[in-house]
Amino acid sequence: MLDEIKKIRTEVESRLADIKNSDGVENFRLDYLVKKGSIQSLFDRLKDVPKDEKPLVGKELNLLRSFAEENYKSLKEKFENSKETISELDLTLPGRKEFTGSHHPVLQTMREMNEIFIKMGFSIAEGPDIEDEYHNFDALNFPPDHPARDMQDTFFIESENKLLLRTHTSPVQIRVMKEMKPPIRCIMPGRVYRNEAINARSLAEFHQIEGLYIDKHVTFAELKGTLIQFAKKMYGENSKFRFRPSFFPFTEPSAELDITCFLCGGEGCRVCKYSGWLEIAGCGMVHPNVLKECGIDPEVYSGYAFGFGIERVTMLRTGIDDIRLLYENDVRVLEQF
Ligand code: PHE
Repeated sequence: MLDEIKKIRTEVESRLADIKNSDGVENFRLDYLVKKGSIQSLFDRLKDVPKDEKPLVGKELNLLRSFAEENYKSLKEKFENSKETISELDLTLPGRKEFTGSHHPVLQTMREMNEIFIKMGFSIAEGPDIEDEYHNFDALNFPPDHPARDMQDTFFIESENKLLLRTHTSPVQIRVMKEMKPPIRCIMPGRVYRNEAINARSLAEFHQIEGLYIDKHVTFAELKGTLIQFAKKMYGENSKFRFRPSFFPFTEPSAELDITCFLCGGEGCRVCKYSGWLEIAGCGMVHPNVLKECGIDPEVYSGYAFGFGIERVTMLRTGIDDIRLLYENDVRVLEQF
């Protein structure tokens, strides 16, 4: 009997080693593990075994049965799983798309602009969105009858001290100059508000980055150099720029920086109003009246200031030709950035 058990054990071992698929597993079960299988028939013969041999034979038989059963179970699991994978996976299906969020293109632009100016030695300053007339206009040398002070151009907040939503980031210049002693080299990113009709080119709420540099002997050449350096980093070495004389109450002389239109490449089109150029920044040398107002002696110090519209820069980088697309929050637009 013990010899027979040994024989079946060797047989079982070699059968197990040969099993290659789930049919093989099933045939193994039918041959060894069912009631009429060869292991059970050995159990059936246990009653004829002499009494003193019974414990040993019984033990060996049990070992054989559990060996066969355990191996059967694990092989069954293995082939069942692989069968499932093959039948359920259609390898020709396109992969599942992972949806990951990203920063809004305007925020991306703002951060990139900050980064370039930080590398040039500027630090970041901030001011409040709700300003008073003093910081937004008076201290910036706006005359009392300037049209920007009109309700049609500025959102005023009903209050005793005539609060308003800042129309530009330039009031932060005043706050910075009153707080710090020259040399001052700051950029001031933030949101600004204007009471304007919304169309493809302008919104009532948008973003600017203001720049301010105050020191002894600061010249207009440095202003031009800094802005061109920045613009080339932002738009590439081959982009073309021009400075055009302009006017702001808080800078003298004043200029505007233009870049070749991204849509027509300078030929003239609807976006650039057929001029071939797009305005990207206002700038100039800080007006002596402004320096004086902030307690800085214009005989000793001079400085420049500039202001970029961040949405405009974003449009130039992305090729979006309608500013409203940036704020409609249509995922089909946003997911491209
Ligand atoms: N504040 C100006 C504007 O809103 C831009 C500007 C900033 C111009 C700094 C000159 C100097 O248009």
